[in-house]
Amino acid sequence: MRILVLGHRGMLGSDLTEVLGRDHEVNGVDIGEFDMTSEADCIRVVEEFKPGVVVNAAAYTDVDGCETNRDACFAVNAEGVRNIACACRASRTKIIHYSTDYVFDGTKGEPYVEDDPCLPINVYGESKRKGEEFLVELAENHLLIRTAWLYGRQGKNFVKAILAKARDEGKLRVVDDQVGSPTYSVDLAQATKLLVERDSRGTYHVTNRGVCSWYQFALRILEYAQVSGVTVEPIRSDELIRKAKRPAYSVMSNRKFMEATQRAMRPWQVALNDYINAQSHNHR
Ligand SMILES: NC(=O)c1ccc[n+]([C@@H]2O[C@H](COP(=O)([O-])OP(=O)(O)OC[C@H]3O[C@@H](n4cnc5c(N)ncnc54)[C@H](OP(=O)(O)O)[C@@H]3O)[C@@H](O)[C@H]2O)c1
Repeated sequence: MRILVLGHRGMLGSDLTEVLGRDHEVNGVDIGEFDMTSEADCIRVVEEFKPGVVVNAAAYTDVDGCETNRDACFAVNAEGVRNIACACRASRTKIIHYSTDYVFDGTKGEPYVEDDPCLPINVYGESKRKGEEFLVELAENHLLIRTAWLYGRQGKNFVKAILAKARDEGKLRVVDDQVGSPTYSVDLAQATKLLVERDSRGTYHVTNRGVCSWYQFALRILEYAQVSGVTVEPIRSDELIRKAKRPAYSVMSNRKFMEATQRAMRPWQVALNDYINAQSHNHR
């Protein structure tokens, strides 16, 4: 397959480029080479690379920043997706796009399935939902993958933040009343490859398996990284001042993915352990 990865320098985009590149011809562009808020740019890159599949991993991902930069956030996460869909329309190019658990309000209390009603509670979630709507409306051949709590090798993430804070301050306060499924971007890239190769269409939820709170996640990070002597205090979300509200319950069911691919995602603890080992190996 000839694949164009949009946002190929981002956390997910870089892993997608590597994983898809093992068996397919992959090109990538990112901000600097193209701006998805420009329809002309989107048309230009699709005409230039003539991909059979466009994988869009570009997005405005600063969740708190979206609260104060609503227009910029919608320009990328909503109108940007419309631009890509329009650019792919004439050539009927397939689009793979990513969305988030934050399209849900987090009150369901059991794993969200693909057709549960969306009710975002922050601007980022609203913008991602609008992007989903554009995709479904404009791209006949699309695959929409919702994921959550991503961490990976490129860029900032929760794992790196916890390890840096533990090292610098020796004391952590971590939210214990939001639960979800931490997901390694390499695992998500591999799951994407499976879905693309079997030409899956429609919406799929894909996260690593299992559930924890941010507090429980932090404890495992320290354990696997063999960091000791750090105090970790569980706190409530309302004790942490942040611009964007987060859903309390962010768990999504992988059932549809498992039925389609006959494969299960790895438990989040196994993936995390792998990630931490790979990171420490790289730093040796
Ligand atoms: N991270 C998570 O926890 C998480 C959770 C659920 C879903 N997702 C979704 O997963 C996907 C990948 O997320 P990620 O965390 O890998 O993102 P990321 O690391 O922030 O990468 C996004 C890339 O898109 C680029 N970009 C931003 N605005 C652009 C524009 N106007 N035109 C072209 N490129 C632009 C970014 O450049 P700059 O870095 O220069 O801005 C960056 O290289 C996104 O759809 C995101 O919504 C992420």
